[in-house]
Amino acid sequence: MVVVPVVAVAVPNVEKTAEMATVVFTPTGLRGEFPTGTSILQAAQQLGVDLESSCGGRGICGRCQIQQSVGEFSKHGISSLAENITPPSQVETEKRKFQKMLLKGRRLGCSAQILGDMVIDVPSESQMHQQHIVKKPLTSTFASIRQ
Ligand code: FES
Repeated sequence: MVVVPVVAVAVPNVEKTAEMATVVFTPTGLRGEFPTGTSILQAAQQLGVDLESSCGGRGICGRCQIQQSVGEFSKHGISSLAENITPPSQVETEKRKFQKMLLKGRRLGCSAQILGDMVIDVPSESQMHQQHIVKKPLTSTFASIRQ
């Protein structure tokens, strides 16, 4: 009888798993774990967060504006560090400089990516189902319908 020694061979892990980060959206409080590199818009859509994206995430409409809340959030168990979000992209820089579409501290959810744990605020004007106040009365529309 021949005895064959068993040798353990270490196989390198070819598939590298991305690091995961916790993201909490306010004011809803919806939260989830996402691989780093995920856009804020994608994370919001996966959780069902009410974040507008009229152009489908192509950086055109400027409707997906969010703001990172920086600091320690013991309530959520999160350290939302400024470096946990990617620096502004060229699209965001152009929107801020030339089109004046991005206020200070705001980011485009479709452009900004998750690098670590963070708390993200969705301003009311970026929420799809936020009520809009119509200042001009619609009486002329009703009048034309009645004719
Ligand atoms: S979804 Fe249109 S600019 Fe981000």
